[in-house]
Amino acid sequence: MAQQSPQLIPQPVSLQTLTGHFVLGKQTSIVVPAGNAECRKLGELLAGMLATPTGHMYAVSTVNKPTGAIHLKLNAVPDTLIGNEGYRLKVSAKSVTISANDAKGLFYGIQTLMQLLPPDIEAHKEIKGVSWSIPAVAITDYPRFGWRGLMLDVSRHFFSKKVVLNYIDEMARYKFNTFHMHLADDNGWRVEIKSLPLLTSVGAWRVMRTGPFDGFEEPKPGEPATYGGFYTQDDIREMVKYAQDRYITILPEIDVPAHSLALIAAYPNLSCTKLQYPVNPGSQFYTRQDNVLCPSDDSTYMVLDKIFTEIAQLFPCPYIHMGGDEAYKGFWEKDPKDIALMQREGLKNAEELQSYFVKRVEKIVESKGKKLIGWDEILEGGLAPSAAVMSWRGIDGGIAAAKMGHDVVMSPWGNCYLDLYQGDPLIEPRTYGQLWLRECYNYEPVPDSVDAKYILGGQGNLWTESVTDERQVQYMTWPRAMALAEVFWSPKEKKSLGTFMIKVQQHFKRLDAANIKYARSIYDPIVAGAKMPGDTVTTHVRLDSQLGNLDIYYTFDTSIPDQYSLKYTGEPVAIPNGAAEIKVITYRDGKPIGRETDVMLKDILKKKKE
Ligand code: ACM
Repeated sequence: MAQQSPQLIPQPVSLQTLTGHFVLGKQTSIVVPAGNAECRKLGELLAGMLATPTGHMYAVSTVNKPTGAIHLKLNAVPDTLIGNEGYRLKVSAKSVTISANDAKGLFYGIQTLMQLLPPDIEAHKEIKGVSWSIPAVAITDYPRFGWRGLMLDVSRHFFSKKVVLNYIDEMARYKFNTFHMHLADDNGWRVEIKSLPLLTSVGAWRVMRTGPFDGFEEPKPGEPATYGGFYTQDDIREMVKYAQDRYITILPEIDVPAHSLALIAAYPNLSCTKLQYPVNPGSQFYTRQDNVLCPSDDSTYMVLDKIFTEIAQLFPCPYIHMGGDEAYKGFWEKDPKDIALMQREGLKNAEELQSYFVKRVEKIVESKGKKLIGWDEILEGGLAPSAAVMSWRGIDGGIAAAKMGHDVVMSPWGNCYLDLYQGDPLIEPRTYGQLWLRECYNYEPVPDSVDAKYILGGQGNLWTESVTDERQVQYMTWPRAMALAEVFWSPKEKKSLGTFMIKVQQHFKRLDAANIKYARSIYDPIVAGAKMPGDTVTTHVRLDSQLGNLDIYYTFDTSIPDQYSLKYTGEPVAIPNGAAEIKVITYRDGKPIGRETDVMLKDILKKKKE
């Protein structure tokens, strides 16, 4: 009898469950083609992944074994259906075979194989007493999009090389292939540029502050800037290589002309005001400090040339991301040199001046043999001739760029911004905006009105104003990036939110085994005020959860709720006279599953969404 379907994320193109299991034993070997160093490396990577949890180093060999082996095979004749990232995976009781046209495909087949093994295969220690059993299946799989990205902002907070390498490993598990590093912003410059040493000796450091970002006290006169860090060029080469070994391209972003205060702190001659500012620790500043490069000053382009020369040498990615977002133009509009430039060049407004800047940057980037990509603001005032656009303010920028024949990566904030609240703001870490798991999952990257060939793919973005350490990076990324992984990889017609929600809960076990933090917000209560017909004020409370099928218990009398408290029936409940607080908990199968959520009723009454 065929068994239960394995819980794979992203969902493969085709998955057939068969009878029986392949069980890893001490004699199991990993068979790779003779004379192919890349395949041998993949065999060793797989052996390495299996070694710690199983306590056994499986042999990698070129000697064919009809039974008891995991075969990695490159097709002699190309299999046209699966392309260069696809694979076929066949598991029977006797053997496992992954075949592909290219080593990339074998790598993705290995990721799928890992997901077929019990969750403990992700453990960082030996787990005894587990049968390392793989259900028999026949899988054919290949990605929908060639750009499957995640972005990590390493400027607002610096994350060490080790954190980055771990993140790359986590991405690879879900078949992401592009890792965008936001390397420069107002709060820190993070990459060594040998020809501009002040970028890191000054720009990488700020004063230490703790608490809600954006409200931090500004640096005091003479206060040492000790918080931050940067990647040396050796670090970058190591990260690039580590990512390459996992078929992930690192896309470097240097955000200009705005978000440039760390650069300007190091080289104050590059802004219009030429004032000396400290690297911003997360204080509000916007229009008071000039974090924008001066577009009329040749020094700006000389410095950018030096930066992009070294960036191009460090990162093999065909693209360099120039940012280009959220440029405040008030300083340009007042600057006599900028005004003179606009007159000379016939530029009608500050948007056209920005476009002038972007086009000059494009020339620099192209002179280094790279293609330019930027946030959708680079469309304003006229898009540079060959630039690709990353659409974040919604999808309109992406649509406009695709209609002009430019390549587009979709990452609209409303579906792809991993820094937003993934549950009720009353109990989630402080941030802004909301993005629930299902809103990630329901994203469709190709708008109806555009030719799909211009949509390279999509990307989830994790900005880190409110993310200070690796555990919080993980919490914000997972499980929402699993949803995006399926959006970017799986065929549209194979997607199912209901099935995904079940699979995600199985994958929580894998993250638990791997000691990776994740958000369990889908289990948490959602508490909202409700008006009944005829009411002018909120008189009731509506309770729910993102999963929707949990038991919900509540109290109004300040006692701790459990399964003997009042049970929510699905109908809004009237707020008793005098009640100041509601405490809510979710249960499944008689056990608490979500976080207890205590809400002052005055806060619900304030909430806009009811
Ligand atoms: C952005 O979120 N400012 C690209």
